[in-house]
Amino acid sequence: MSALARLSDEILVCPHCELARSRTRAVPGEGAEDANLLFIGEGPGWHEDQQGRPFVGSAGQFLDQLLALIGLRREHVYITNIVKCRPPQNRDPLPAEIQSCRPWLDRQIDLIRPRMVVTLGRHSLARYAPGESIGKVHGKPRKLNDMIHYPMYHPAAALHQASLRRTIESDMLRIPEILAEDKGVCQEAAGVQQLSMF
Ligand code: URA
Repeated sequence: MSALARLSDEILVCPHCELARSRTRAVPGEGAEDANLLFIGEGPGWHEDQQGRPFVGSAGQFLDQLLALIGLRREHVYITNIVKCRPPQNRDPLPAEIQSCRPWLDRQIDLIRPRMVVTLGRHSLARYAPGESIGKVHGKPRKLNDMIHYPMYHPAAALHQASLRRTIESDMLRIPEILAEDKGVCQEAAGVQQLSMF
């Protein structure tokens, strides 16, 4: 069993905050263990809580369509959330819940070591850029040590506000070019030629 699978097993029985009392299932995350792209949403909704899988409701269907725009499927990336258990009535996760869940996400990122972390929505944005507004920073990549942080709107935002759909799609479509540019810069620094996009 891989270290990431063992970590998921630990998350499944996490007792550390009140959300553990009301959840049906914890939702650790899923996808490629060596993913270059890691997506961080807000928290499981009703469908995710029932199935124990991230982004399986209507926002998840849109996320699948967004991935298809850049030729990817969910098994090519890793998808997880800021909190691993569903907040009751789909309320926002509380700061204490986000704080107590934080070590799980830290350990997932340490194990996967993605080239790019895509934050979906304002709660996951706040982990990397506290106080920044999603309306201002979406679609603007930032280098964070050896990773790129790329903020996007949450896919559910397009379901509530149709005008955001184009914005989210065009932010998604920029990901390959951002990764390719970053790879070019890294490889130039290392004196090798660029070979592949992802
Ligand atoms: N919204 C999220 O932020 N995460 C999910 O897993 C599902 C919906």
